[in-house]
Amino acid sequence: MIVLGIESSCDETACAIVDSGRHILANVVASQHDLHTLYGGVFPEVACRRHIEVIAPIVSEALYDAKLSKSSLDLIAVARGPGLIGALIIGMNMAKGLSFGLNKPFIGVNHVEAHLYAAMMPQEMPLLPALGVVISGGHTFLVRIEEIGTYTLIGTTVDDAIGEAFDKVAVMLGLPYPGGPAIEALAERGDPKKFSFKPGKVKGRPWDFSFSGLKTAVLYATKGASGKRDAPLLITEEEKPHVAAAFQEAALKDIVDRALKAADHFGCKALYFGGGVSNNCYLRSLLAQKSGLPVFWPPFNLSLDNAAMIAGLGYHQFLRKGRDPLSLAPQTRISLANP
Ligand code: KG4
Ligand code: ZN
Repeated sequence: MIVLGIESSCDETACAIVDSGRHILANVVASQHDLHTLYGGVFPEVACRRHIEVIAPIVSEALYDAKLSKSSLDLIAVARGPGLIGALIIGMNMAKGLSFGLNKPFIGVNHVEAHLYAAMMPQEMPLLPALGVVISGGHTFLVRIEEIGTYTLIGTTVDDAIGEAFDKVAVMLGLPYPGGPAIEALAERGDPKKFSFKPGKVKGRPWDFSFSGLKTAVLYATKGASGKRDAPLLITEEEKPHVAAAFQEAALKDIVDRALKAADHFGCKALYFGGGVSNNCYLRSLLAQKSGLPVFWPPFNLSLDNAAMIAGLGYHQFLRKGRDPLSLAPQTRISLANP
C-alpha cells in the first residue's frame, strides 16, 4: 500500500511516500530555519506564507524521487495537529485536494503520535508494551505504548516543552535558531560543573516535567538577577560553553531519570524516543550508560519533523480504523491518549 504523507504543523513543509508503513520511497523536507532565526523562534504568520509557497513543489518532488505517478498512490495521510492552526490548514487542504482529485482515501494523523512511531518504523515488530518519550520543540510526553494507536498518558510538561527551553536558552547565549543543535555543539567544549542548575519538580506529580525554573536560573546566571532578557551578558565568552553544558545536563538528566523510573514503574519492555531533541548525542550516550532496557531512537532523518512518519503511521491507522471524512478539521491541540 503506497501512502503519500504531508507534514506542515510548524516550520517544516514535508512530503513523503512510504510503502506499507515502513519502506521509504521519498522523504522531502523543506525547513524554514533561515526565516525564523531572526526571531529566535517560529513566527507563525511567516511560517504559513512559506508553507503556501513550497507545498505544491514539495509534493511534486516527492513523487519525482519515488518515481511514481499520482495514480499509483493508495492513501493520502496528513498531520491534522497538534500545531499552528494556519500551518496545519495548508497541509490539510493540500491533502484533501489530492484525495478528492485522485479519488483516493484521506486520513488525518496526530503529529505527536507520529513522532513516537518514527523509532518503530524500521522495526518489523515493536517491543511492546513500551515507554514512549516525545521530546520536541512543542511537546514533552511520557506515555505507555500498549500497541500502535493505544497509549496511556503518564506525564507531560506543565510549562515549556524541552526543545522550547533549549531554543530560549540559546537566545540568551546569542546562538542561532534552532537552539538545540547549537547548545549541544557549544556544550561539548564546556564543563557542566562550573554552573549549578537544577531540574524542575512538580509537587505531587512525579511524572510531570517543568522547565521554566531551569530556564529562569540560566537567565539569572547569564543576565543577572533583574531577569531582563535584553540586559547585557554578565558571563564571558569562555564561560558560555559551561552554561550550555550545565543547562543541557540538568535538562537531559531529568528526562533520562524520569523516563527510566517510569519504564520500571509501568512495566515497560523497552523505551522509544521521538522528536527533535532525541537527536542529541549526549542524551543518547546517557541512556546507553544507564538503561537496563533496550532503547530505540528514530533514525536521524526521522527525528525532526518529517512526513515519512506521517505516512507510516497513516498506514497503520487506516488498517485499524479506515478513512477519515474530508470534513475532518485541523486541531491545534489533540490528546495523545485519544489520537
Ligand atoms: O520535533 P521537532 O522538529 O519539532 C516539533 O515537533 O517541535 O523538534 C524541534 C526541536 C527544537 O526545539 C530544537 O531546538 C530541538 O528539537 N533539537 C535539539 C537538537 N536537535 C533539535 N535539541 C537538543 N539537541 C539537539 N541535537
Ligand atoms: Zn514535531
